[in-house]
Amino acid sequence: MKVLIATEKPFAPAAVQGITNELKDAGHEVVLLEKYASTAELLEAVKDADAMIVRSDKVTPEVLDAAKQLKVVVRAGAGYDSIDTAYAKEKNVVVENTPGQNSNAVAELVFGLLVYAVRNFYNGKAGTELMGKKLGILAFGNVGRNVARIAKGFGMEVYAYDAFCPADAIEAAGVHACKSQDELFQTCDVLSLHIPATPQTVKSIDYRLVNLLPKKGVLVNTARKEVINEEELLKLMAEREDLKFVTDIKPDADEEFKKFEGRYFSTPKKMGAQTAEANTNAGIAAAKQINAFFATGDTKFQVNK
Ligand code: 3PG
Repeated sequence: MKVLIATEKPFAPAAVQGITNELKDAGHEVVLLEKYASTAELLEAVKDADAMIVRSDKVTPEVLDAAKQLKVVVRAGAGYDSIDTAYAKEKNVVVENTPGQNSNAVAELVFGLLVYAVRNFYNGKAGTELMGKKLGILAFGNVGRNVARIAKGFGMEVYAYDAFCPADAIEAAGVHACKSQDELFQTCDVLSLHIPATPQTVKSIDYRLVNLLPKKGVLVNTARKEVINEEELLKLMAEREDLKFVTDIKPDADEEFKKFEGRYFSTPKKMGAQTAEANTNAGIAAAKQINAFFATGDTKFQVNK
């Protein structure tokens, strides 16, 4: 089978090697399309592919229509909001993700951003420490759990809320379970977002909710830019000079946020999962899932059932 690795933001070279070896050992042909500059390049490359490995690459109806032989797409990562899963289902294309494989990388970056924020972006003025502060984790999935583990090492008090994870399971991980999103925001000095972008969560991080954060609150977003109501957050940051916002997913209104100098920072590219380890873990998991799909019809990680 022909497997296309299509990554606008490339994997680390070691990961590409590992993925290629895994697929070739199972008898598949591998085609690599990295840093493509236009959809046309992707449409051309996907024409005769039987399987695809992608990252946040957009797999739209146009791409799926061009991919006449496509049977399976594996998103090497967690969030699959960049793939039209419903249209893929209509076309009998299985969509899978590789949950948990890059979550430590994202969780570590949360603390990179946080230390930077509470130390005033290293401007030389006295900042604050994380020890003893209350950290709120919104959604207790793979990333949220890793954030909780690392936060304990910093000596933080850890709280979480997850609409789909029972309080018992949160408490079993040694984390205080809040009864609602509102309670989490009201309680915590630092709030880290780990919700996926879904019709329910898009723009859900709005003026009212963020305004519940106590004085000197810090909002960290390593989830998806779409979950933030940017217009309302801009309004709130203009009103509350104590608030900070740090992210690894540049908001659409980046230029406007930049006006809040000393209170806002975004990495130029989405960086959470951009480590050799995360690329290798997620990429090789994707390759193994493709091998299992073609060998036995295994669809354990299918997200469009
Ligand atoms: C994910 O959903 O797995 C992360 O956001 C990482 O995405 P990336 O592969 O685009 O870096």
